[in-house]
Amino acid sequence: MSTTIASSSAEFDRRARRRLPGGVNSNVRLAAPRIYFERGAGARLYDVDGKDYVDHLLGQGPNILGHAPEPVQSYVSSAVRRGMVYAAEHEEELIAAEQVCDILDWPDMVRFGVSGTESVQAAFRLARAFTGRRRIVRFEGHYHGWLDNTLAAFPAEGGCIPASAGQVGDYLEDTVITPWNDLDAVRQRLAADDDIAAIVTEPVMLNAGAIEPCAGYLEGLRGLADEFGVVLIFDEVITGFRVALGGAAQRYGVTPDLAVYGKAVAAGWPVSLLAGRADLMERFGTGEVNHSGTFNASVMAAAAVRSATATLRDTDPYDHIEKHGQQLMEVIRDASNRHRLGLHVQGLGMAFHTSFGPEAPITDYRGVARTDGAKYGRLARFLIEHGVWVAERGVWYVSAAHGDQDLHDAESRIDAAFRAFARSEVA
Ligand SMILES: Cc1ncc(COP(=O)(O)O)c(C=O)c1O
Repeated sequence: MSTTIASSSAEFDRRARRRLPGGVNSNVRLAAPRIYFERGAGARLYDVDGKDYVDHLLGQGPNILGHAPEPVQSYVSSAVRRGMVYAAEHEEELIAAEQVCDILDWPDMVRFGVSGTESVQAAFRLARAFTGRRRIVRFEGHYHGWLDNTLAAFPAEGGCIPASAGQVGDYLEDTVITPWNDLDAVRQRLAADDDIAAIVTEPVMLNAGAIEPCAGYLEGLRGLADEFGVVLIFDEVITGFRVALGGAAQRYGVTPDLAVYGKAVAAGWPVSLLAGRADLMERFGTGEVNHSGTFNASVMAAAAVRSATATLRDTDPYDHIEKHGQQLMEVIRDASNRHRLGLHVQGLGMAFHTSFGPEAPITDYRGVARTDGAKYGRLARFLIEHGVWVAERGVWYVSAAHGDQDLHDAESRIDAAFRAFARSEVA
């Protein structure tokens, strides 16, 4: 019997909407087509209707080694046979912490968490305790989690507003919103306000566009943080262990005071880390600053970090990922030209962004806001229908598991998707 497209997915979705609000467990997934996956392996996802997808969303970034990487899955599975949470210390967490500090090279200490959202909060609290100040300089278009003091929309007139009903808008009042890649704007904010505790930045802007820091920008932030005595926090939740083994700090040669890691640090397992200098981090150790969590450094989390970071260190897949991504960007540009789509493609091989407009390279959130997101959303649906799993917001990720066959299949599927899209837009 032949199956109609996503017949089982459609059936599961009907059931899910009764028991899961919107049929999903993260609002980020509300916009995506409801496809139920049976499994992921390497660079592929397989849905319940038997169709495969070349995966360029990678779970929103974590699957840097592809789906179900054997060394990590085996190591974690065997570790958790010894139990999961002890409410006490264990060797695995110590070794993972030592290894991460060795690999990153700059932090003295780390604290485990479960999600990027909460480790960002730990960083803010530490920065406030350290400086005795309150406000945080952050940037238009950057994402630092879904809690009331970080979730924000960025209206054209500047500043930020709550992005959700039920959000306490007052919590955003301690946020000083600033355009990114503009050092003068940061200097102005710091000079005008003596109550700034920290600057927090995605060191490569990957939640809106894929925008690299301009030459000297991160160094400039470092200099301003030192000049005004504020804590520099890199939110490396996406960039950490992705744009280089040592993340953006290594790639761009700039050392923050604190950094938050998540996603790739555990190759798909739910773990975050706050890393930092001893004089800051020790404040957790003295008990002066509270950071708690039942699941912090569970055996699963520690084993996943230990195994994922060792695998990344020992196999060094970064040249391969970068090259594959560059080739894929060319494939997309060629197909866009062939079908006269005028798609704009920019970023790094390991994480890049595609959009309709603008003509020139995008350097800040205002550039991203000028792109045609609705049109790109329609294109993303054609890509998914043709077997390339991508985000509707335009970001593409590449993993160590992507190989020649994946590129080959992606090329023919992208071509078919773009052709069908071009036809549908004129129809
Ligand atoms: C830069 C950045 N910071 C923080 C977060 C929040 O991490 P989590 O979703 O693990 O809470 C994300 C999530 O995408 C992110 O991209």
